Amino acid sequence: MRVITNIEDLRVLAQKRVPRMFYDYADSGSWTESTYRANSSDFAAIKFRQRVAVNMENRTLATTMAGQHAAMPVAIAPTGLTGMQHADGEILAAKAAEKFGIPFTLSTMSICSIEDIAANTSTPFWLQVYFMKDRAFMGRLIDRAKAAKCSALILTLDLQILGQRHKDLKNGLSAPPKLTVANIANMMTKPRWCWGMLNTRRHGFGNIVGHAGNVSDMSSLSSWTAEQFDPALSWDDVQWIRQRWNGKLIIKGIMDVEDARLAAQSGADALIVSNHGGRQLDGAQSSIGALPAIVDAVGDRIEVHMDGGIRSGQDVIKALALGARGVYLGRAFLYGLGAMGEAGVTKCLQIIQKELDITMALCGLTDVKKVDKQILLPGTY
Ligand code: GLV
Repeated sequence: MRVITNIEDLRVLAQKRVPRMFYDYADSGSWTESTYRANSSDFAAIKFRQRVAVNMENRTLATTMAGQHAAMPVAIAPTGLTGMQHADGEILAAKAAEKFGIPFTLSTMSICSIEDIAANTSTPFWLQVYFMKDRAFMGRLIDRAKAAKCSALILTLDLQILGQRHKDLKNGLSAPPKLTVANIANMMTKPRWCWGMLNTRRHGFGNIVGHAGNVSDMSSLSSWTAEQFDPALSWDDVQWIRQRWNGKLIIKGIMDVEDARLAAQSGADALIVSNHGGRQLDGAQSSIGALPAIVDAVGDRIEVHMDGGIRSGQDVIKALALGARGVYLGRAFLYGLGAMGEAGVTKCLQIIQKELDITMALCGLTDVKKVDKQILLPGTY
């Protein structure tokens, strides 16, 4: 097997090992995928200032995100259907994050449940929620997060209606996958994945099955979104959550300065500059492109995080230089998980950490908390 030295190596291996339907679900964006591509290419356009003969001994990457210790300024993003990239995927990723010392976020649309993560880890994790029409279900979800000792809720505001993803429609995405001839033929080429799935009972939406009524088809993200997510969501509903949740509240999906101001007024502890990994409004700006104006507008009032397009430790440090307190890894950790399970997530985190550490040193800094615009070449951001 080829030696794995970067995130692209993990992606290539994941593509070989994960059934097409789930690999495509993780790997693609909406419509023309222009925003999905811009998330990465805008990072590539930013250049560093190379500094020399600066003492680079005793470097530290440790920080906090929303008050939680982070061994580096990186958290695991909430990603749907993670337990379909690899059997028990959310449990494995949560364990890898815990051992590494970074925050882990569980998606509401996960395969493993809140209780599964609580039973398999001891560090408080974060739960991502959407705003659902069924307030009783939402209330129970929040109570379950409290019982599981979650330390933060991440409220996603940019997916009350699903952006069209062509590959998911063409592949007939569902969890568990429907056993059509085409799906069976594809799964037979992924023996490790099949073996893992045969050895777990977790094949459906673990946070929802048995907890929500009136849902006719729980296997499909698109039908669940159409039936359950509340398209009438407003900032008053954010208050509804704030009043029920005393832990940290993080608002996800902010791309506009006006929305950032509203988020800062909402009583939230942090916001995430995010276009949902280019999976929602195609044609929106890249997240790294939107970050500086949002930091300028509200950075003194609320902690600003970002996600979208991070495929290396160099991307992490560029986001920090433009004012993010920390970033989230979505696809990068999913590639590791699909490639090699828990060991693959650990490998992903090691790769990101090493790239971040070396880049910081070559830019002439030793403490990640001191990273600012000074490390970037003017005119390139
Ligand atoms: C869920 O949040 C998704 O992007 O599929």
